[in-house]
Amino acid sequence: MAEFKLPANSIVCKGKSFSAPSGTKNVKKFIIYRYDPATGENPSTVSYEIDMDNCGPMVLDALLKIKDEIDSSIAFRRSCREGICGSCSMNIDGGNTLACTKPIAEIDGDISIYPLPHQPVIKDLVSDLTNFYAQHASVEPWMKTDAPTSLDKERLQSKQDRDKLDGLYECILCACCSTSCPSYWWNSDRYLGPATLLNAYRWINDSRDDATGERLDELEDPFKLYRCHTIMNCVEACPKGLNPAKSIVEIKQLMIKRKM
Ligand code: SF4
Ligand code: SF4
Ligand code: FES
Repeated sequence: MAEFKLPANSIVCKGKSFSAPSGTKNVKKFIIYRYDPATGENPSTVSYEIDMDNCGPMVLDALLKIKDEIDSSIAFRRSCREGICGSCSMNIDGGNTLACTKPIAEIDGDISIYPLPHQPVIKDLVSDLTNFYAQHASVEPWMKTDAPTSLDKERLQSKQDRDKLDGLYECILCACCSTSCPSYWWNSDRYLGPATLLNAYRWINDSRDDATGERLDELEDPFKLYRCHTIMNCVEACPKGLNPAKSIVEIKQLMIKRKM
């Protein structure tokens, strides 16, 4: 996985450390970013040693163990613990991913955990994704049709047209891709970023949707779409194996086609 080292690393001070009980044989150290704006103190990293003989296999298991047994003040999001809800996204060992599907055994040595890069931090590992969600809403991610809704008839789609949604509908909006994208870091106020563009393409590519032209008009903008420079960090980062860069290229190709 590509490394997205946080600029914040250089300014975060070392804080407390919690050692494993003496005699613990299988110890792993987690170095975790801590920040609570309510205290007025600068961010710091706190290290926690965990007894791995009494911990589940995923990074989220270690975070829950820390919260339950060592330090209840640590804040992070999680819900499904199986890679479906997208809420446990964070920067683990230098890469954005989901804590619930990241095996601890894949990481040698100490494990650093930071919030998603280049987003405001609400507390500890909880990023403020308000802008990210507003951008997703801005592409109107729902079906728009000219035909009236019928309560007794489905909107049918051929198998081939349905297949075109594979690789798009699986997005869980975890923001791992957008927050690993350098273009998004510098222009997230105007560039929609890979996650939102993949979701825009999901609807552009849906044979049942009648608003393709309107959707492309909305994206025809030097910043919203064209800030993607095909750096490909988004593809590396996606924990669901999706390819937002490909969706962006395909939107750009549609833009060219409709001008021909
Ligand atoms: S391919 Fe585009 S969207 Fe993906 S990381 Fe690069 S610039 Fe960002
Ligand atoms: S494309 Fe992948 S990384 Fe990006 S938000 Fe969707 S699931 Fe997360
Ligand atoms: S807890 Fe839902 S994706 Fe990790």
